[in-house]
Amino acid sequence: MIKKVPIEALQPGMHIERFDCGWLDHPFIFNSKKIKNQAEIERLKTWGVTQVYIEDGQCPEPTLPARIERKIPPPPVAFEHIVTPQTARVDRELKHIPICHEIVRAQKVRQRASLAAKNILADVQAGKKIQTREAKTAVGELDNSICHNKDALFLLMRLRKKDEYTFDHSVSVGVLLLAFCRAMGFDQETTRTIGLGGLLHDVGKMAVPQAILNKPSALNEDEFKKIQQHVIYCKEILATTHNIPLPVAQIAMEHHERFDGTGYPHGLAAEAISLGGQMAAITDVFDALTSDRCYRNGIDQVEVLRQLYGWSHSHFNEGLVHRFIRCIGVYPAGTLVQLESGMLGVVVESTDNLLRPVVRLIYDTRHDWAIRQKDIDLSKPNGKGGEDRIISYESAKRWRINPLKVLGLT
Ligand SMILES: [Fe+2]
Repeated sequence: MIKKVPIEALQPGMHIERFDCGWLDHPFIFNSKKIKNQAEIERLKTWGVTQVYIEDGQCPEPTLPARIERKIPPPPVAFEHIVTPQTARVDRELKHIPICHEIVRAQKVRQRASLAAKNILADVQAGKKIQTREAKTAVGELDNSICHNKDALFLLMRLRKKDEYTFDHSVSVGVLLLAFCRAMGFDQETTRTIGLGGLLHDVGKMAVPQAILNKPSALNEDEFKKIQQHVIYCKEILATTHNIPLPVAQIAMEHHERFDGTGYPHGLAAEAISLGGQMAAITDVFDALTSDRCYRNGIDQVEVLRQLYGWSHSHFNEGLVHRFIRCIGVYPAGTLVQLESGMLGVVVESTDNLLRPVVRLIYDTRHDWAIRQKDIDLSKPNGKGGEDRIISYESAKRWRINPLKVLGLT
């Protein structure tokens, strides 16, 4: 039998069946977990978790305190000055539009943002000053689309052309940062400033020879040093641009710094890197690794999220990586997944329960045949998908399935 116990009764070795709070309000990736050590119990306490559900018989009968005060979970690091008290709940309160409607608007918005990025990068290459008005308008439109349904732009990020990497990467890092900021509960002005930083973060690459940027084979030491110079060029370019807020310049300068001090150009560590710089580092790596490049194919998003999680104890701020994974979703839109029933499907969009998204079923692996496509919402009970659950994510390449085609995007 499952019973509720106070956090004080929890001991290393016990298995938490579920938490007495939302997925966003505890520090772990999954809603059930075996507690490995006392440090994990202390982390739960700092997040304000006061009670959990465990299987009966794991500990002596505890008594619940008469009244339990729920604390608001603290922000992951010392960023209180820009995190509103409603942290992590804000994005759920924004007006939600179904993805089938938002995707049309998102396509136009993304096109305009790509054009703005191309114009800016072309101006830099021609030695002209950056005009930020077009970029700011594009960032505002992207932010509006994310507020309506972030999965629309997340899905479109998967539509890439290898020869347009620099433009697509600029827009994608902008999109990811905007969504990340919204998930953190930042206000509109802060969100859009950091989003602009994402769009402009690699302007310095225009000063690096294209032959090095697009080299299909491994870079030698000299070439790698020249690529690293792009953050210094960023600083010089943005210093001559009017009305560039400080966080934008910090993102451009710091997106290759690492939390453990192993990054470049200055080897800054921990909070010596600005919040925007730390967030940009995570989004930059996520987009770079998931993209097809001239020298390698992109890695599945779920796999990259796992890698980021692994680096959360070294290269990146642990709390921010957790928030980013929650923002993107454990199973991001466009991911091929297998369900317990044996059905294969593509994630259409996330729900309030990020482990139970909306899935478009396409194939029955038990009978080995394609089925008539239908969408089920795994978060809804009573015959609408609530009985089934995701047991694994699958490689679309191995199954020779194009998830974007399934979703009607190609
Ligand atoms: Fe960069």
